Amino acid sequence: MCGIVGYIGNKDSLSVLLEGLRRLEYRGYDSSGVALLEKGNIRIVKTPGKIKDLDSLLRKEKISQSVIGIAHTRWATHGAPTKLNAHPHTDCRNNFSIVHNGIIENFASLKKELVKQGHKFISETDTEVVAHLIEKYYKGDLKKAFLQALARLKGSFAIVLLSKKHPDRLLFARQGSPLIVGVGKNENFLASDVPAILSHTNRVIYVKDAQAGEIRKNKVSLFDIKGRPQPVKIEKVLWDLESAQKSGYAHFMLKEIHEQPQVLKHLSCAGIKFDKKLISILKNTKQIFIVACGTAYHSGMVGKYAIEEMTKIPVAVDLSSEFRYRSPIIDNQSVLIAISQSGETADTLAAVREAKNKDAKIISICNAVGSSLVRESDFVLYTHAGPEIGVASTKAYTAQLMVLYLLALNIAKVKKTLPKSVISRYANILCDTHNQARTILKNSTRHISEIAGRHHNFGSFLFLGRNVNYPSALEGALKLKEISYIPAEGYAAGEMKHGPIALIDEYRAVVCIATESKIYEKMISNIQEIEARKGKIVIIATYGNADIKRHSKEVIFIPKVEELFSPILVALPLQLFAYYVAAKRGCDIDQPRNLAKSVTVE
Ligand code: F6R
Repeated sequence: MCGIVGYIGNKDSLSVLLEGLRRLEYRGYDSSGVALLEKGNIRIVKTPGKIKDLDSLLRKEKISQSVIGIAHTRWATHGAPTKLNAHPHTDCRNNFSIVHNGIIENFASLKKELVKQGHKFISETDTEVVAHLIEKYYKGDLKKAFLQALARLKGSFAIVLLSKKHPDRLLFARQGSPLIVGVGKNENFLASDVPAILSHTNRVIYVKDAQAGEIRKNKVSLFDIKGRPQPVKIEKVLWDLESAQKSGYAHFMLKEIHEQPQVLKHLSCAGIKFDKKLISILKNTKQIFIVACGTAYHSGMVGKYAIEEMTKIPVAVDLSSEFRYRSPIIDNQSVLIAISQSGETADTLAAVREAKNKDAKIISICNAVGSSLVRESDFVLYTHAGPEIGVASTKAYTAQLMVLYLLALNIAKVKKTLPKSVISRYANILCDTHNQARTILKNSTRHISEIAGRHHNFGSFLFLGRNVNYPSALEGALKLKEISYIPAEGYAAGEMKHGPIALIDEYRAVVCIATESKIYEKMISNIQEIEARKGKIVIIATYGNADIKRHSKEVIFIPKVEELFSPILVALPLQLFAYYVAAKRGCDIDQPRNLAKSVTVE
């Protein structure tokens, strides 16, 4: 939510900042802006719309070469996405310019106080108070004024400050929203995420919560909120810029769908090294809690089936936003697994903190190195999916599933809840999943796009699945609605007669997951009930099932796999289906309306 870029060096800062913004556009895309130091003054250019709108505006403006600046792409929280509300914001005299990601919760009272003291506000944003607070406290020492202003803020933020009075530095701070420093040669960068700076440097510092700092052309310093120096730890980013580019695909989402075989192969065959202590804690726990949001929550639901089936440990899965407010019965004997691609999801972090307060052990399943979640966990299992830039989560989802299966298998091994022969059969299935995923992408992509072509005008969809593919149905519906804007609901097929069947008529499209399983016949009964009411059925079935064509001519086949592990393979046609329906409807697939990639506010 909101992307920040900052630059100081010898290059033309505007082009560095714009390139960075383009790479962060997935974080928010309703307005954007830059502030540059131009001939000793701060020049701010901003506009509603996407980065391309900012780019064309900048082309019309005459901007002199500048070597320091800040930039922002916004996902609106306080105030509509207008030019005035776009960042950067400034104080009364345009001495201090601010970009901010997060929410200043006490901005209303701060604003009242500042207005009383004569400060003039021009936007409806919470951010503007920060610039005025710095103006209020500034007596010649920028760091001191910055820290005094920070001390007044409540909420979550990543903030970068540019001051015309100190043209040799940018100040920054982080509390709850991500921020990294990119360390270059005679230049340094600030950004919300790594892709923004990766074409310049792969050396980064992950700024911690309650940490502030300063970058100059040749120096980076970190300090705590009291101004005391802190050690600087530079880490190397292991993926390259290619991973953060579309590489010939029409959209990031399509590219990321196609990366899944590679991600699955890496996880399952190269293997994850499970910490012995982690497995021993899990083996002895009486109860596992899983918390997550959205797609990650669906992977948690599948995780429950896998862990309970293989290890016999009871698992409770909660939406993070519900867990944090429901007084969960959790103590120092409990283990909480938090699943998050970004590691910055506010509700998931809050759920983790709730569990930590009760001394539970925290394991995170996360894709983002250096994220808040990783730092707050006792153990981390990385999904190693590489950067996921499309707003709709695809490869991170199947990677989360793979990690959960492998985790369950490793606990089962130590707990001896499965015979050795079953463990090795399961390990082989997981190791072969990437080949089966590749087969689906190779054989079915075109067919799925044709089915999408025949279904993209339906007004609403129902997705039905049973058992371990009930979460798949929820995920299929979520994928479709978020990128195509078609209302779509996921349901456990057994629940159909308890309400949703009233929706079925010839205008309703129903996607049914009817792969080979112990409840296959039950699924077929549901399909027949839909047929009887003339619903338009698309079926996901297993290769070799010739019979299924009797129920619909729209069938997508996937390779045969043991039911417990089928959600990974089932996810692929569901993702492709959503993708092609959205494409046929001309939707903005990588940047769906109203959404942003990482939800850092409640
Ligand atoms: C849907 C999607 C979201 C995220 C959710 C959690 O495609 O991407 O539902 O899964 O916002 O995000 P993370 O995994 O970053 O915690």
